[in-house]
Amino acid sequence: MSDQTKTSEKPWGGRFSEPTDAFVERFTASVGFDQRLYHHDITGSIAHATMLAAVGVLTDAERDQIINGLNEVKADIEAGRFEWSVSLEDVHMNIEARLTERIGITGKKLHTGRSRNDQVATDIRLYLRDEIDVIADELKRLQTGLLDLAEREAATIMPGFTHLQTAQPVTFGHHLMAWYEMLARDAERLQDCRKRVNVLPLGAAALAGTTYPIDRAMTARLLGFDRASENSLDSVSDRDFAIEFCSFAALLMTHLSRFSEELVLWTSAQFDFIDLPDRFCTGSSIMPQKKNPDVPELVRGKTGRVNGHLISLLTLMKGQPLAYNKDNQEDKEPLFDTIDTVKGCLRAYADMVPAIAAKAGPMREAAKKGFSTATDLADYLVKKGVAFRDAHEIVGKAVAFGVAESRDLSEMTLAELAQFSDVIADDVFDVLTLDGSVQARNHLGGTAPDQVRAAVTRARKQLLGG
Ligand code: ARG
Repeated sequence: MSDQTKTSEKPWGGRFSEPTDAFVERFTASVGFDQRLYHHDITGSIAHATMLAAVGVLTDAERDQIINGLNEVKADIEAGRFEWSVSLEDVHMNIEARLTERIGITGKKLHTGRSRNDQVATDIRLYLRDEIDVIADELKRLQTGLLDLAEREAATIMPGFTHLQTAQPVTFGHHLMAWYEMLARDAERLQDCRKRVNVLPLGAAALAGTTYPIDRAMTARLLGFDRASENSLDSVSDRDFAIEFCSFAALLMTHLSRFSEELVLWTSAQFDFIDLPDRFCTGSSIMPQKKNPDVPELVRGKTGRVNGHLISLLTLMKGQPLAYNKDNQEDKEPLFDTIDTVKGCLRAYADMVPAIAAKAGPMREAAKKGFSTATDLADYLVKKGVAFRDAHEIVGKAVAFGVAESRDLSEMTLAELAQFSDVIADDVFDVLTLDGSVQARNHLGGTAPDQVRAAVTRARKQLLGG
């Protein structure tokens, strides 16, 4: 990156009598990070030039010269032939300067009727829209993998927890579908956010609009925006759309982080519920036996930075008067890092989830511990005419007996159970089994294997339709 300071190189240098301080130049420049917008900056400029020619502000020949020049600049950037200059501040002025170098004076007409304020707002929206589509696809890949796994494990029994204490048996498929539901809401939020991203700010110019007879509907059409924005002051200063995206991302990451926490627990020798393939784990440099679940741990860790970026953007905006302020240049790094982090985490999860191997044996063994069918026994008593509160008390006593004897309810004899209530008969053992327990919860949203399969079918239909 060249770093020379000469007032004449600045597109805005006219009213200045001394060069920018060398440190201030580096301090205020954004080209180090906003160059990633180059593609969308050029796309926006081509649409702007096309519109300017359509309304007669540029001639068709000037438009063609500008478009060809911009395509050459793009080719230069992509071939690594472009030297980004800090003294040209940002991606916008770098590209415009190179365009003028290539095609001469016509290049200087491109900026007619626009400002960097509406230009940068347009670029970020175009860029974010593309990234949203990439993220939506990756999210869908993860959702699909989860559905396949849930279907495979629809009847696999594991303990369900509350307070991380064994509560009731559930099916692993049902547990996985809980994650699916969270991701489905995330996907919905992302599409909702996209609607508000897909609005064209260009034409707002610096803040008040422009004196040229621009056709904003045409520019919006050319760039695939749903419409042009309504208010020029709002257009150049609004960053709600980036905040909304970051809030989607923070929730998604929070979900992935909770998911990660469970995967980490489940791969431990103490739980031993699942196995992750070696390719998603790493070892220890000192303990030869270790296989660490690094991917879930890192995803859980990266949630912190994404949540932080949301707070950065909210704080960035909270004190800004209308309209554009240079503060807004600070929107990019948090947004870009959020996008990169979310894409990385989704990619890792979409690759890893279908490869999760459930250990049905240890899961079932764990479900047997902790008196997980105690509620089933209480429900059994209620169905035989006992009031629920009394049934709760009776089962509590039976559990205390089991704790003292180190035996599960299903491991007691009929005589032992009957000492707690005389309505207990032989059929009690049907409800004390794990399979009986999950199968009995056979309603919409319940954990029964058939309900899990039905939920997978509904979700798959919605995912393919949406
Ligand atoms: N690099 C600036 C940004 O990211 C572009 C807009 C600058 N506009 C201005 N009036 N200085 O926000």
